[in-house]
Amino acid sequence: AEVRFGSTEVAAVAPVVGEQQAPVHETPAADTVIGLRKKTFSEILAERQEQAKRTVLINCPLEINEKKLLKYLSTHGNVKNHFFYKTHAPYAVIEFSDADSIASVQDSIHTPHFEHEGFVPFKSRIFTLTSRNPPNVAAQEPSVHHHAQTIMRFGDLMPKLCGANSMSDQLHILTEAFQLTEENIRLRFLVCSLVQDIAEAYFPGCVVKPFGSSVNSFGKLGCDLDMFLDLDDIGKNFGRRKTGPFNLEYLIKRVPTQRVATQRILSAIAEVLDNCGPGCVGVQRILQARCPLVKFSHQPSGFQCDLTANNRIALKSTELLYLYGSLDPRVRPLVFSVRCWASAHGITSSIPGHWITNFALTIMVLFFLQKRKPCIIPTLDQLKGLADPEDKLTTEGHDCTFVSNLNKIEPTRNTETLDVLLVEFFQFYGKFDFKKYSLNIRKGKEQLKPEAAALHIQNPFEKNLNVSKNVTAPFLDKFVTLAQESAWLVQEKQNGPSSMPWGLAALLQGPVAQNANRKVKVNRAQTIQQIRGLLDSLKSNGLKGERSYSTQ
Ligand code: GTP
Ligand code: MG
Repeated sequence: AEVRFGSTEVAAVAPVVGEQQAPVHETPAADTVIGLRKKTFSEILAERQEQAKRTVLINCPLEINEKKLLKYLSTHGNVKNHFFYKTHAPYAVIEFSDADSIASVQDSIHTPHFEHEGFVPFKSRIFTLTSRNPPNVAAQEPSVHHHAQTIMRFGDLMPKLCGANSMSDQLHILTEAFQLTEENIRLRFLVCSLVQDIAEAYFPGCVVKPFGSSVNSFGKLGCDLDMFLDLDDIGKNFGRRKTGPFNLEYLIKRVPTQRVATQRILSAIAEVLDNCGPGCVGVQRILQARCPLVKFSHQPSGFQCDLTANNRIALKSTELLYLYGSLDPRVRPLVFSVRCWASAHGITSSIPGHWITNFALTIMVLFFLQKRKPCIIPTLDQLKGLADPEDKLTTEGHDCTFVSNLNKIEPTRNTETLDVLLVEFFQFYGKFDFKKYSLNIRKGKEQLKPEAAALHIQNPFEKNLNVSKNVTAPFLDKFVTLAQESAWLVQEKQNGPSSMPWGLAALLQGPVAQNANRKVKVNRAQTIQQIRGLLDSLKSNGLKGERSYSTQ
């Protein structure tokens, strides 16, 4: 058992760790508490980043002797932790106790020689290991356990869901099955750290940090990896001397606006990723979007990466979601299940369009939880009221202050079960007056809509923005109808284990199980709708490409 990023729950998975090493849950980075105090989001992030710095990725043969490999690597230093996984090829993730061990490995190995091809030399932390033994000897090696990095098939989960004792249990089973694993989180931090190595070639001192669902505690296996290139420490004026007869400054490149600066920085990084980044393929520069970004695939990990810069508010939104997810054990399973329900019915999509984004949907769940009596989670204004002086933060003129110390937040007195909450969620939004009201998690109250938009959800930090501006009226109608139908369906089929899908299982299957033809039609309609949405979004952005939240 181990503690996941941001999760206060204990999950029952058995990570394969080397015999002589400490099990994963004993390493400091996997813990979310120090004594009786829960660690802050920044503390967990910093520990994970430091751990990633001591880690390397090795492409190794499918059949490999684990003991021999560890012994071989131990000549460079103590291997603290390791695990294996397979994407298009098998890999080992090796964490050393000491970062110096990596330099020792790098000094002892060579770059490959290709007869008919050229190569760009780069001493990265991704290596290839081959066996010196003839293939027939190597083939006799015992196979190692490869940790799954992708989600299990929904069909495989169905029997488990149907066999659960209650709907609350179903929500927990779904969360356990689809959430990010400890190994997947480690891999995400490692990829950020590897991209940082590359970015440092241009910007020494930069930091690449994960944000979004990789770290907000609501991530599903297979979700994209959102990265943020942090150049703040380079730009800061450390120890500036204010005395003496002179003032000494760096000569820096001046550009018309901060946006142009972000575009130039990302363009430079895209260039180096594309031309020299080991394992980085399919680099796309989407620099004209409201939030400029570089998209690429990181082949060794299989992650689809979105790299942004100057996007500090998204980092704070991530921390806020993480904080809400940690406050009460019901928040994560509820958000998780609603996200899965929405994705199963085409309410959300990773393609930009008229649908609700996962971010907006999560805020809808949080708002609903604030409206329960007694409330299950506090409002953002209450979290601001609890903030310590060091939590004070204003970014681009927006107040992003809220408490980081989780121990200061009183637990709720609300004891409603997840069964009740899920049904109530659907009923709440099935009859919510979207025409009149905007959702505001800062106040925990609906407010008169400040502007015409089908769905208005106030951005928690940029108060004049609507995080769901992209959602059209017909799409919102679809959401409302589905919520009403789901409330009905879930009450109808809540009667416990049977051979027919019930509760959450029925909800996730929805109309699909009842009518196979309808499934084909729904899929076709969804595909057409997705293509239309994609075309619309390209049109409205002058064919420049767009990020899901760039429409606000
Ligand atoms: P996935 O769909 O699993 O990737 O969820 P996600 O939460 O990672 O969403 P996404 O990759 O679209 O966005 C990454 C992060 O950017 C979110 O977690 C938010 O912090 C932020 N973000 C996304 N959409 C919006 C938006 O509409 N407004 C603002 N202010 N921030 C957003
Ligand atoms: Mg994401």
